[in-house]
Amino acid sequence: MVEPAEGAVRVVLGVSGGIAAYKACELLRRLTESGHRVQVVPTASALRFVGEATWAALSGRPAATEVWASVHDVPHVRIGQTADLVVVAPATADTLARAAHGLADDLLTNTLLTARCPVVFAPAMHTEMWEHPATQENVATLRRRGCVVVEPAVGRLTGADTGKGRLPDPAEIFEVCRRVLARGAAGVRADLAGRHVVVSAGGTREPLDPVRFLGNRSSGRQGYALARVAVARGARVTLVAANTELPDPAGVDVLRVGTAAQLREAVLKAAADADALVMAAAVADFRPARYAEGKIKKAEGRDPDPVALVRNPDILAEVSADRPRAGQVVVGFAAETDDVLANGRAKLARKGCDLLVVNEVGERRTFGEDTNEAVVLAADGTETAVPHGPKEALADTVWDLVAARLG
Ligand code: CTP
Repeated sequence: MVEPAEGAVRVVLGVSGGIAAYKACELLRRLTESGHRVQVVPTASALRFVGEATWAALSGRPAATEVWASVHDVPHVRIGQTADLVVVAPATADTLARAAHGLADDLLTNTLLTARCPVVFAPAMHTEMWEHPATQENVATLRRRGCVVVEPAVGRLTGADTGKGRLPDPAEIFEVCRRVLARGAAGVRADLAGRHVVVSAGGTREPLDPVRFLGNRSSGRQGYALARVAVARGARVTLVAANTELPDPAGVDVLRVGTAAQLREAVLKAAADADALVMAAAVADFRPARYAEGKIKKAEGRDPDPVALVRNPDILAEVSADRPRAGQVVVGFAAETDDVLANGRAKLARKGCDLLVVNEVGERRTFGEDTNEAVVLAADGTETAVPHGPKEALADTVWDLVAARLG
């Protein structure tokens, strides 16, 4: 165990008593390997699942388990006061309830009351407990106060059940923590907490026959970065992903689609109660007019039949013109190869959205890369240039502009 550097970021890892406590070991490992000084604060129930020795060995310091231990150090106040981030993973229904009600009956809840840094909860429990109005109201209370409460993942739960309630992948919870820490002081209050945002990502594929399709080069990375950043800013995020091969980000409801028609249906449904829609997906403008039920074969001595195309509906223009919710902010992306800004301005007017992120694309630019460079054009005439940098930085700028418009 390498001792963290002087001045290292101080993270408190609160662990409450659920079977997913074992997955917090992996989160702890990632936090310490990134050079953070991590103080684990397990509840008494958490220690029944994973013992003190494991937390001590992985963090390189004793776990803090008791309000009544080392009282001269005043641990019930000091641990929270000196933290740069508190992350509670897993957060049980009981821990969420105690945090929402301001109880201070153990070291973890004392720490939550004294912390003035960003706080992230990663709940894990059975679906019934998660969906219970009591839990949902506690989650809403914590979000209203500016905490990030990451939506649980859907999948296999303890025993034979499946449903919503799984702890997201520790690597993805780590990503949320990394994003929240990167926001610094701005991360103390999650500015999209309580908002529902919909992001589309990837590229649609329009089938020609059972083995062929018309597609595009979009990898989905920019849309996924938008989703990740929105979670770290507290939003409930629905990601409509077209043909992507990226891991599901923590806290994101991922809806997988293939064609433009499927993407349209999923986006319209999800956007019905959304505060914002960001169309980062590359949607095919055209699809083959005819789908061949069997594989198209070549006929010797005869030229292939031309492929006739028909227009797909423009989803961005459709939602912009007929907003399912008053005050909804709609953002489009424009991938351009020439006359980038002029085409962007014309497109913003044509589509009727509030913001249009314009970037230059080509075979070796933007697609599949982790960086991007863009100008965000707004319907009110303003322009925000985003210099070449990580796709997450562009995502932050987009959410800054969206948050300003949501008021
Ligand atoms: N878009 C959409 N539905 C379509 C096509 C595009 O919602 N059928 C959205 C994209 O998700 C993106 C924006 O519109 O946010 C701009 O996409 P782009 O392909 O650049 O624009 P087009 O309208 O296709 O314009 P053109 O191909 O003429 O440049």
